[in-house]
Amino acid sequence: MAQISLRDVKKVYGHKVTAVDNINLGIENKEFVVLVGPSGCGKSTTLRMIAGLEEASEGKIYIADRLVNNVPAKDRNIAMVFQNYALYPHMRAYENMAFALKLRGYPKPEVDKRVKEAAEILGITRLLQRRPKELSGGERQRVAVGRAIVRKPLAFLFDEPLSNLDAKMRVQMRTELHKLHLKIQTTMVYVTHDQVEAMTLGDKIAVMKDGKIQQFGAPLNVYNKPANKFVGGFIGSPPMNFMDGEIMAKNNDLYFAEGNFRIKIPKEKYLKLKSYTGKKIIFGVRPECIYDKLFASMATPDNTVRASCEVIETMGAENHLYLSTGKHTIVAVVDASNKPLIGSVLEVVFDMQKSLFFDPATEKSIV
Ligand SMILES: Nc1ncnc2c1ncn2[C@@H]1O[C@H](COP(=O)(O)OP(=O)(O)OP(=O)(O)O)[C@@H](O)[C@H]1O
Ligand SMILES: [Mg+2]
Repeated sequence: MAQISLRDVKKVYGHKVTAVDNINLGIENKEFVVLVGPSGCGKSTTLRMIAGLEEASEGKIYIADRLVNNVPAKDRNIAMVFQNYALYPHMRAYENMAFALKLRGYPKPEVDKRVKEAAEILGITRLLQRRPKELSGGERQRVAVGRAIVRKPLAFLFDEPLSNLDAKMRVQMRTELHKLHLKIQTTMVYVTHDQVEAMTLGDKIAVMKDGKIQQFGAPLNVYNKPANKFVGGFIGSPPMNFMDGEIMAKNNDLYFAEGNFRIKIPKEKYLKLKSYTGKKIIFGVRPECIYDKLFASMATPDNTVRASCEVIETMGAENHLYLSTGKHTIVAVVDASNKPLIGSVLEVVFDMQKSLFFDPATEKSIV
């Protein structure tokens, strides 16, 4: 069994708020798993149930093969780090980190050894004598992580630990958490609504919506093969483009017909799309799979459409082109040197090998 297992876990607040709706999740030993999804989707509730801070309404939670539904939080051997790190303001960093161990009656030399070890790992040795108000946000967050590390828990649970930090510090702390995980090789479950954090930190990510896990898998697998339209749109920035249209058959070929243009579908996708002939479908294409024909080698009349350039966002390393085509506005990520005139009409090419199709009724991925 996985090190942390959730089986048909449900959380209902009062009589009607279903915060978590029948979740099944297996987290292996030493794995870094990220729960990601929009606000209110049940991420924190899931984490708090693993920690024992919230009781599951239904289902079973196992930690290291032990059923823990009735085990109080303090006996689960799990450490949690929150967004508001809640350090004791009157204690120095050292005491903040030592506190939980002292409370549990660890001998002084052992406490000292653990605090110094953790401080070394986190690079905060020189800050140990400072009080929280004498530390920056990032340094405080490190102390909070240190407080968790000294306990040598079975697993770490993080609930949006970086969201109080400014953008630059967030990126830096993200890298440090990554390194920390490599160093201490302990299971981590990490909650965020930021898909970039999810993609970069997770060995696996669980994308949640409305209390349900939409997809669980390795980040690239989720990125390349989203289970449904929601996952496709949530993971990736700028988000995947979606266009409504229908599947059209002509001369033994299949096309996606938008109304104002049509594009040919690659042969290997025929089998799954054939039954949609004459029916509505949603076409999904990522911004980096759309090219200006002038810069593309794979252009054919079958995968090229005309689009007018409405807005350009220059990002430095790349440009985001907002293009109007047919009845849709789509975004393309192109090279920084590719800067068409606003209002000009360009021919854009879709990489149809990487295109996706979704059923409009279920929004599930077809191919
Ligand atoms: N104590 C509570 N009583 C009633 N409803 C609650 C309670 N706690 C959470 N909820 C509801 O449960 C749902 C899930 O909440 P949860 O805090 O798990 O979301 P989240 O995914 O962590 O969101 P966020 O990204 O905003 O932190 C929300 O609809 C929320 O309003
Ligand atoms: Mg939350």
